[in-house]
Amino acid sequence: MGGSLARRLLSDHRVIAEKSGIELELVKVAVRDLSKPRPFPSELLTDRPEDVVRDPDVALVVEVMGGLEPAGELVLTALNERKPVVTANKELLAARGPELFTRAAEKGVSLLFEAAVGGGIPLIRPLSESLAGEPITRVLGIVNGTTNFILTAMAEEGRPYREALAEAQRLGYAEADPSADVGGGDAAAKAAILAGLAFGVWVGGDRVYREGIESVDVADLAFARRLGYALKLLAVAERTPHGPAVRVHPAMIPIEHPLAGVRGANNAVFVEGPGVGELLFMGPGAGGEPTATAVLGDLIDAAREYLAGAQVAPRIRFGDGGVADFARVETKWYLRLEVVDAPGVLAQIAAVFGEHRVSLMSVWQEGRGETATLLLVTHDAPEEHHRRAVEALRSLEVVKQVAATYRVVAPEP
Ligand SMILES: NC(=O)c1ccc[n+]([C@@H]2O[C@H](COP(=O)([O-])OP(=O)(O)OC[C@H]3O[C@@H](n4cnc5c(N)ncnc54)[C@H](OP(=O)(O)O)[C@@H]3O)[C@@H](O)[C@H]2O)c1
Repeated sequence: MGGSLARRLLSDHRVIAEKSGIELELVKVAVRDLSKPRPFPSELLTDRPEDVVRDPDVALVVEVMGGLEPAGELVLTALNERKPVVTANKELLAARGPELFTRAAEKGVSLLFEAAVGGGIPLIRPLSESLAGEPITRVLGIVNGTTNFILTAMAEEGRPYREALAEAQRLGYAEADPSADVGGGDAAAKAAILAGLAFGVWVGGDRVYREGIESVDVADLAFARRLGYALKLLAVAERTPHGPAVRVHPAMIPIEHPLAGVRGANNAVFVEGPGVGELLFMGPGAGGEPTATAVLGDLIDAAREYLAGAQVAPRIRFGDGGVADFARVETKWYLRLEVVDAPGVLAQIAAVFGEHRVSLMSVWQEGRGETATLLLVTHDAPEEHHRRAVEALRSLEVVKQVAATYRVVAPEP
């Protein structure tokens, strides 16, 4: 993405200046490998990033190298030098957000990060500025394009997970090591940032409950459709009576919900609040060009700040606060059970749910013979009750297998 940004800074220089009144000049670019061909003059290059942040001719710093270090120390050095910083690094912000934002505030400069969540979708500014007065109740979205591409291929083409992943890798939508995407880590870092902005309380990436898509069985995508759901990797940040709950996991969502129709590598985020109702932000969540657009917007703000000699963007502040105990967070559940096909089996299963105070919303049976497939959807139940009910089901002789369980995320009533 840094390559797209550098090229745009050089080729769109006039357009940017005419539209914004700001002249941005690319002074220096740090890379790891000086010998790689680049879409800009080699005299701009250095392999010593600390020289960029310390250079007195550099007024604004963009960090798009990724990773925790040396990115973290470079951002701190730039802020210490009172240079506004633009970053796209969600991993760094999720790990060290409060420290970095505090340093920026101490030094009176901005740390801007529009590209860190949702790539080219303007999302951070609306959340932190336009919606500053809204007591946001829930942020719900698809924030990882790689996993959405894989789940779309599984749902629409009936491909198993491994095959859909290989296709995503071949087309450049997934890295050779896809673990940060398919394991939910990337989405969890983004969820932490969104929750921080939505609730004004720092959650931190390590406090986001996380499940990835590696064990999603293509069979459940087909069953989901029959029950009127789509299966998506969702990031959910919501206010609960026990505090903010932030989680990333595959979830069933009603097929008529707009998130169910988000295909391929796109991202989409719903923001809900009592004043605004529901807002939907949707578009390309990654890719060099869309992300460079988001970084350029931040850079123009950073330049305005530099020229004004005062911080123009609102300060990002986060209060302290606990997150909800995940065991108490309530959701509906989908379960797929392989059971003995005999009279009285359903009664035994219903009794287990009753004992664990989980009530059933719908039951659907497929297959006749020795075994049958049961698809169950429950009403809202705390995580803990659901987990205990599943353990008890596993010990029933008539239940051959609890083949899958997924949370069901429904629209706000
Ligand atoms: N790509 C996207 O669509 C996208 C979207 C949103 C956010 N982001 C975020 O943007 C950041 C970069 O992602 P990317 O996909 O653009 O990564 P990338 O393609 O790997 O590019 C990273 C760039 O930083 C340089 N670099 C890395 N470590 C360095 C070091 N220690 N010293 C000097 N230069 C170094 C690399 O140099 P070489 O070229 O020599 O290797 C490369 O040019 C990440 O934080 C990512 O999460 C990316």
